[in-house]
Amino acid sequence: MTETSGLRQPRFAENLQSLSCFEESQLVSLDPIKQFGNWLDEATKCPKIEEANAMCIATATKDGRPSARMVLLKGYNNEGFRFFTNYESRKGTELESNPYACLVFYWEPLNKQIRIEGSVERIPHQSSCEYFHSRPKSSQIGAVVSLQSTPIPNRDYLRKKNAELEEKYEDTEVPMPDYW
Ligand SMILES: Cc1cc2nc3c(=O)[nH]c(=O)nc-3n(C[C@H](O)[C@H](O)[C@H](O)COP(=O)(O)O)c2cc1C
Repeated sequence: MTETSGLRQPRFAENLQSLSCFEESQLVSLDPIKQFGNWLDEATKCPKIEEANAMCIATATKDGRPSARMVLLKGYNNEGFRFFTNYESRKGTELESNPYACLVFYWEPLNKQIRIEGSVERIPHQSSCEYFHSRPKSSQIGAVVSLQSTPIPNRDYLRKKNAELEEKYEDTEVPMPDYW
């Protein structure tokens, strides 16, 4: 086994020691959503964090085999946490058969992590459509080109498909794919 226990940078270890312990009295609210908002704001304002809304989402097959990957949080409220993905991706098919997920945020410069667990449901088609079309055209085409979790022959295949769609939709709206 390759030993990795010494990988932590000495400076990081020193910083950790100088940080005060987290105390319950530092909570801004006992409402977890309000507390989440406060920490997300802090992460967003931290110059060392480029994507404060990046989170790891774990899903599992019906028989409990887990898988995880990063996605971007696109909204939250008392009802839940919203992200967008391809329904035919691995996470999409796992959520279809086992609609529970776990999210983890980790903001290293703040020495904070958050875990969120719960059931997952699709948002209304109209909301997906509105978000899809609010994105830059290149991202919309990217979503059509990228059949997530599906093997492709090579990168050139993606480049060609991308170029074809850029031409096809040069003057028209990109239709949102059914799997999005
Ligand atoms: C920082 C970051 C943000 C990402 N955001 C998203 C996202 O919002 N939605 C998405 O479907 N994939 C996103 N991805 C790509 C996923 O991590 C993943 O590669 C893809 O969704 C396929 O995952 P799956 O095969 O496990 O379903 C992101 C990747 C990174 C590194």
